[in-house]
Amino acid sequence: MSNQQELSTKHLLGIKYINADDINLIFETAVNFKEVINRPIKKVPSLRDVTIANLFFENSTRTKISFELAEKRLSADVVNFSSSGSSVKKGESLLDTVNNILSMKVDMVVMRHPAPGAHVFLSNHIDANIINAGDGTHEHPTQALLDAFSMREKLGSLKGKKIVIVGDIMHSRVALSNIYCLQKLGATVKVCGPPTLLPKYISSLGVEVEYDLRKALNWCDVANVLRIQLERQDIKYIPSLREYAQFYGINKDILDSLDKEIVLMHPGPINRGVELSSDAADSDHSIILQQVENGVAIRMAVLYLLSGKRS
Ligand code: NCD
Repeated sequence: MSNQQELSTKHLLGIKYINADDINLIFETAVNFKEVINRPIKKVPSLRDVTIANLFFENSTRTKISFELAEKRLSADVVNFSSSGSSVKKGESLLDTVNNILSMKVDMVVMRHPAPGAHVFLSNHIDANIINAGDGTHEHPTQALLDAFSMREKLGSLKGKKIVIVGDIMHSRVALSNIYCLQKLGATVKVCGPPTLLPKYISSLGVEVEYDLRKALNWCDVANVLRIQLERQDIKYIPSLREYAQFYGINKDILDSLDKEIVLMHPGPINRGVELSSDAADSDHSIILQQVENGVAIRMAVLYLLSGKRS
């Protein structure tokens, strides 16, 4: 239960900057919005007269659609911008681009940007509420919130639960946000993957490292499996995807051979046959589609709660 009625912050820049009460308040609000989006009429007037700009300087499918749906379900006015085909390609700075958009009287900005810290920079320069939809390899807070919310739905309180994050920890913003979020909720987090994809600083975050996939899976209650982020790898970190799949790919046979039932998660997009086989991704263990559904409710909750902190 949250002891708060409102968030402690005006922006959602990262999970690092919010506390456990904020997270619980977002969850409680998301439970109500999940009920709303399952009604025949899925819309509420909560953000009527609020204008939200979705600024995507990096590719996105589900996060962008999920934010847009969340905004529309809350009756906000929505404008979309993506950097391909924009003046960014003509050399305009981030601040100029955003200030131009804000002159059109935008109240909230949802942004995905390749530069870690871009949102913190912007929050020092503009008045609108800023929501981080992914900053490079750094944080992806709404993904971590929807992941933890989905785990909580399945397992109850996360206090003392064991979560392993498997795969390309080094290049994943989902990993860092998950670690912060799960630890704030009292879970124990391990990471598992090839040594070249596990950054050295990871143990300083209070996270244990396990290189053996089978051991990690036998230890955990939940495995959150990440994609190999080839687009962020400037050098070769693994010999081949085939070899990666052999050592770190999860299939139904591995799941069936474990000592216990575990929950399988993935933020998407999945590389089927690499980190997850189809029979694992589509098995009863998997809650991947529930994650996507919960994403809309979580983003509605974040937008709604932050809108109360507009100054
Ligand atoms: C993640 C992202 O973009 O960081 N996906 C997502 O938001 N649904 C993970 C990924 O791209 O692998």
